[in-house]
Amino acid sequence: MTIQLGDTAPDFTADTTEGTVRLHEYLGDSWGILFSHPADFTPVCTTELGAFANRKDEFTKRNTKLIGVSVDGVESHKGWSSDIAETQGTALNYPLVGDEDRTVANLYGMIHPKAIATATVRTVFIIAPDKTVRLTLTYPASIGRNIDEIIRVLDGLQLSSEFPVSTPVNWNDGDDVIISPAVSDEDAKTQFPKGFTTFKPYLRTTPQPNR
Ligand code: BEZ
Repeated sequence: MTIQLGDTAPDFTADTTEGTVRLHEYLGDSWGILFSHPADFTPVCTTELGAFANRKDEFTKRNTKLIGVSVDGVESHKGWSSDIAETQGTALNYPLVGDEDRTVANLYGMIHPKAIATATVRTVFIIAPDKTVRLTLTYPASIGRNIDEIIRVLDGLQLSSEFPVSTPVNWNDGDDVIISPAVSDEDAKTQFPKGFTTFKPYLRTTPQPNR
């Protein structure tokens, strides 16, 4: 199944390192990041899952919960956790789904047989509090993800869900943002009291409104 932006994130109930979890219930009113890795006890995955654990406070600050998944079992995940703690400095601190029967992997299209036939590739799904999928990323097994980029895009998604703005190329939290072309100049004056710069009628920037 291909998950598209705007789709409702498929719900599932699964065994995890933190007991049985139903996705939608676990996420509650939070944002969520569901991500898959190819296999336990592998090098890139060890660095990635440790990095997600290291940065958990930053996700929590953004009202965002993490949940990982691979086709390994829960006992394997638990055994691997001590290696993550030993080598990356933080133990797993979010649930990791044991998806041996591939229920979650198939629901989310995480298995790309032409890349890896027997395991999930590196996917990321950012899920909004209304349970719609707002971002998908897919990386091959050989390339580790960038947690800074995931946090950056989460910041952009949260900002644009609160204000009629979008984020320009290479935007980072704190940079100016683009006012939606749907907002008239008149309305922009009241909605963006810090003012705005007009480069073109369709390209107006304003200081980040939530700062
Ligand atoms: C890794 O995490 O290093 C890895 C996992 C599966 C296939 C290739 C690399």
